[in-house]
Amino acid sequence: MQLQNDLLVRAAQGKETERTPVWLMRQAGRILPEYRKVREAARDFKTLVKTPELAAEVTLQPVDILGVDAAIIFSDILVIPEAMGLNYEMEENKGPVFPNRISSAADIKRLHVASPDELRYVTDAISLTKHELNGRVPLIGFAGAPWTIFSYMIEGGGSKTFSRAKKVLYTQPVFSHQLLEMIAQSTIHYLKAQIHAGADIVQVFDSWAGILSPAQYREFSLPYIRKICDAIQEVPTIVFAKGAFFARPEMNMLPCNVVGLDWNMGIAESRIQMPDKVLQGNLDPCALYGSLDDVKRETKRMLDEFGSQKHIANLGHGLYPDIEVDKVRCFIDTVKEYSVSMRLKAG
Ligand code: CP3
Repeated sequence: MQLQNDLLVRAAQGKETERTPVWLMRQAGRILPEYRKVREAARDFKTLVKTPELAAEVTLQPVDILGVDAAIIFSDILVIPEAMGLNYEMEENKGPVFPNRISSAADIKRLHVASPDELRYVTDAISLTKHELNGRVPLIGFAGAPWTIFSYMIEGGGSKTFSRAKKVLYTQPVFSHQLLEMIAQSTIHYLKAQIHAGADIVQVFDSWAGILSPAQYREFSLPYIRKICDAIQEVPTIVFAKGAFFARPEMNMLPCNVVGLDWNMGIAESRIQMPDKVLQGNLDPCALYGSLDDVKRETKRMLDEFGSQKHIANLGHGLYPDIEVDKVRCFIDTVKEYSVSMRLKAG
């Protein structure tokens, strides 16, 4: 099906676009009252993720309500460890918990490389969403980067320091590589299945990249992201590695199309270090706590710095749950209006 608005896909391919496309990480869920209603009706988070009709419904909400240039499929990065054999629970007001975390090579016997059949609920949600989108905007598929998934499997949940996961990298490097490889293979099968079901572009989230030293990042994260990007040639790929400012020159060498910047990564400096990539980002989500005038000013400042090409507007990380919908809409509208006013000026 031909996309009516294919700005995101064209921008990701490095093509010229009439305006900068805009979407937001964590746009589905979190801030919308319409999401909370569906979330309350479904018993819990996992039911929502595993019921394609509901997942499709909340995926479409930001397209209808906020006017973003892309939908991102409603799911979670933690569906991969679950499909590999490690169950997780999403605890209210606490986040994910793995009752049986992994700590040594012996535990690998409990795991397997995930097959797309085990994630049918995600690919079904993608097919349904594509049908309901009817070509309005592209659909983004996603997965966690192997290091970020590894860290949840070893920690058994979130952590401030991720010291347990880092300890395993230092003390059991062979086992670490074994597990990272299993995650990477699972992720490749999974992303290919998402693309087969209709994802127009995919993003890899390395949310805990910044926890690692540059040397550890080079050894335990980048090679697996590279494997994933090498395997995905069907659609454009975005790599978002939060906190990996030190790895920008190496990210420029990755076989991906787009690199996501967090708000700590200077824009001009990132352009110099990653001349071959389309850049995505990078307004501090907390800037959306300001007044509408503040949001407009900060968004324009960001757009001025990126310039109007080879850029996909986004935040430097996901939206926080208590950010007001009006501020989010202001961010999106400012991007759209800015591009129009630039064109008028140029013409
Ligand atoms: O971007 C989107 O809107 C699509 C949906 C999406 C979710 N999680 C839904 C979700 C995406 C892309 C994710 C990715 C994800 N999940 C990441 C990487 C992105 C990032 O923010 O760095 C990570 C680290 C996770 C793991 C995770 N899932 C945590 C730590 C939590 C609890 C805290 C929270 O609210 O984010 C989740 C739960 C989760 N995933 C929710 C949503 C909407 C909240 C659950 C609820 O509705 O109660």
